[in-house]
Amino acid sequence: DASALQQHFDDTIASDQRIEPRDWMPDGYRKTLIRQIAQHAHSEIIGMQPEGNWITRAPSLRRKSILLAKVQDEAGHGLYLYSAAETLGADRADLTDQLISGKQKYSSIFNYPSLTFADVGVIGWLVDGAAICNQVPLCRSSFGPYGRAMIRVCKEESFHQRQGYELLMSMMRGTQAQRDMVQEAVDRWWWPALMMFGPPDDRSPNTEQSMQWKIKRHTNDELRQRFVDMSVPQAKALGVTFPDPALVWNAERGHHDFDEPDWSEFMAVIGGNGACNVERVANRRAAHEEGEWVRAAAVAFANRQREEAQS
Ligand code: ACO
Repeated sequence: DASALQQHFDDTIASDQRIEPRDWMPDGYRKTLIRQIAQHAHSEIIGMQPEGNWITRAPSLRRKSILLAKVQDEAGHGLYLYSAAETLGADRADLTDQLISGKQKYSSIFNYPSLTFADVGVIGWLVDGAAICNQVPLCRSSFGPYGRAMIRVCKEESFHQRQGYELLMSMMRGTQAQRDMVQEAVDRWWWPALMMFGPPDDRSPNTEQSMQWKIKRHTNDELRQRFVDMSVPQAKALGVTFPDPALVWNAERGHHDFDEPDWSEFMAVIGGNGACNVERVANRRAAHEEGEWVRAAAVAFANRQREEAQS
């Protein structure tokens, strides 16, 4: 009966076992996961655009092939995550519709423009770095397919992060103009990277329940702090600074203190009013519409194969 099913679910979560697609789960758990996994998948797909923007203009064949591989990885992550959402009963075509009609969110970070080639390095270092910080704990998420998808995704994100950092190190060894370009990109991406972790805990409507369900393993503020602490020594090694005068080591807390991101900017961006929201969604919509013949051909081919197998 219903209470026995709920008890079994609660026990599974309490003992750190995994919930699998065929298991009974509360409606809210399923809905929360579909929301989070769909937003995550959309982020990977939309996230191809800021960097894809530089593929044709990469400064060398080596940088171009690295960037191509990286952007393709992001597409793979998106497909992986849509598959995880499908195990919960979501329909992939429906999720795409919700993205291109603006009903479902994707990460705020991808609504900022990538203005110089240094942005490619900074996206790898800070944006993928923040993504890893947020996603490593998700490998232990209570829903099996999501946690398992995260393991592979995190391995690839680590490679992305290293390629970004290596690119920036090369630029920092270059001319003064290149060093300035790196610092300017860091100044633009620092605050948006901190916003990736979501609103502060006291304004995060989903955190408490998601922590109870062990979908999330840490709060937004905990992960943001972890990211700041790990980024400071990396910035020092690179020779850049972060645009936050309040960023100082606090020996008592054993963490860095830092200023609040501009949360009104964050709300505007997730509300559809960031610098690139319209363009990102329009590009995704155009790609979807232009791909209509591919989907039609794939269905026709599958139907013919089925008919041939039956005859
Ligand atoms: N960008 C866009 N939307 C956000 C962001 C953000 N940076 N942070 C929070 N939100 C949204 C939430 O999805 C939620 O949306 P809703 O209105 O549909 O409920 C709302 O703002 C309130 O936030 P929270 O209550 O804190 O939401 P949640 O518990 O889901 O936490 C978080 C947000 C931390 C982003 C979580 O969903 C998560 O860990 N997601 C998986 C990671 C992910 O999506 N990464 C994508 C970027 S990384 C990359 O693709 C390279």
